[in-house]
Amino acid sequence: MTTIHLSKASAAKTRTDALIVGVVKTEKGPQVTAEAVASAFGRTFAKTLTGMGVKGSPGEVVKMPGAGAVKTPLVVLVGLGDADEVTEETLRRAVGAGVRSLAGVDTASVAVPTDTAERVAAAAEGALLGGYTYDRYLSDSSDQPVGEVTILTELVRDDAALAGVERATAVIAAVNAARTWVNTPPGDLTPPIFADEIVAAAEGTSIEVDVLDETRLEELGYGGIMGVGRGSSHPPRLVTLSYTPSEPVAHIALVGKGITFDSGGISIKPSASMYTMKCDMAGAAAVVAATFAVAELGLPVQVTTYASLAENLPSGTATRPGDVLTMYGGKTVEVLNTDAEGRLVLADAITTASELQPDLIVDVATLTGACVVALGDRTGGIMANDDNFRSSVHASAETAGESMWPLPLPEEMAEKVKASKIADLSQIQTERWGGALFAGAFLREFVGEGITWAHLDIAGTAFNEGKPWGYTPKGGTGFAVRTLVQLATERANGSAPAAAGDA
Ligand code: BES
Ligand code: MN
Ligand code: ZN
Repeated sequence: MTTIHLSKASAAKTRTDALIVGVVKTEKGPQVTAEAVASAFGRTFAKTLTGMGVKGSPGEVVKMPGAGAVKTPLVVLVGLGDADEVTEETLRRAVGAGVRSLAGVDTASVAVPTDTAERVAAAAEGALLGGYTYDRYLSDSSDQPVGEVTILTELVRDDAALAGVERATAVIAAVNAARTWVNTPPGDLTPPIFADEIVAAAEGTSIEVDVLDETRLEELGYGGIMGVGRGSSHPPRLVTLSYTPSEPVAHIALVGKGITFDSGGISIKPSASMYTMKCDMAGAAAVVAATFAVAELGLPVQVTTYASLAENLPSGTATRPGDVLTMYGGKTVEVLNTDAEGRLVLADAITTASELQPDLIVDVATLTGACVVALGDRTGGIMANDDNFRSSVHASAETAGESMWPLPLPEEMAEKVKASKIADLSQIQTERWGGALFAGAFLREFVGEGITWAHLDIAGTAFNEGKPWGYTPKGGTGFAVRTLVQLATERANGSAPAAAGDA
């Protein structure tokens, strides 16, 4: 595990195994952001950089020897882009890429612009995100993440900077926990195992956990969760986490899709679409992990979190296309494609969350391929029943450094959701277009009267099938955790734009 330290040491004199240095693009060419490093290498350094092909572009990582000029044997140049456009997210990505490139190295120092507390925190976040590895099944795990990262800054005694590092440590531990759950092979993270792991993780924290097993779910009428899970010999679970601070200023309910493996069920997926489907519990992992971070930070916001866990498999006991499910709360749904299972498990949990009359409900789900078609695999979709709240979630995502974008819930979708001739609701539409919006409109039907709700579709962003980039590793990304913690932080500070329904 990577730990963060702050030091005022000069970048040229710090004695770690490696030094990560920012490079910006300027009119005069690439320039390192640590003056001490530039002068240590002497007057020809700018030429050396250009000669090595260093441009200072975002994403660039170039290693060079310290060559006795600086005290570290290895220098890692990380691109920050245009000098006057360096944002906190620029720093997260660059430091993350630098730390990621140093797996197997014990200690590293970081010299990037850290003149504000926010920038120190961003550098810390980048380092902790980039220092993630998943080695549970590797016989040889010599590529351990960098053990100690020292951020070089003047702000070593600045309270806001120190608090920012502490917050980064709690939040990124949660992101990395979500990543590890997502990366865990589906046979080793069935709904009962996942539920047990959540219970175990909550021990010694201020979070209470309650687990409904298949017997209780059946008794209580959880037709959505049971309908999806009944094809698997690993039965479903509904896990509820409660964090109840003494004087909460708001109550947020979080709901996560936790399909531990999505084969599609009887409407089985082609194998090319199935092999990443261990990631289909990423929403549940995100909401659970975010709850731990909120509790760890002691935010004065009550959080009740529901992880709807089921495995979607075909078998002689599986739900068939054409079956009608009676959901928790009594609404009936005509199932026409067992691969649209996420909305079914979410619906039961959203109804349950609504019973407590929280101020807000946010659900997080790897819900639709359509969202990936619309927004690509690095931007999540936000839908909501309230324009202000959707904007507020979007702003939180932006602050946290997660790319999300608003999607509408147009009127015609509400009609399509009610088009079934034999049940209250249709699970899917007959047309192909706007599948992410239909799914959002379907979920909206289960939100209690007067409750403000947002839905985050993270189908594209939860799992990185491509190469690692910035601080994002291959595999589970932990997407949405930072946005959720940011949202809770803003409610705690009373700094969020008021949602409709607020007094
Ligand atoms: N888990 C998938 C969505 C998904 C797709 C997640 C790609 C991650 C990456 C979901 O359960 C699903 O299969 N959705 C179907 C819905 C359709 C049958 C209406 C889809 O999007 O194709
Ligand atoms: Mn599916
Ligand atoms: Zn799914």
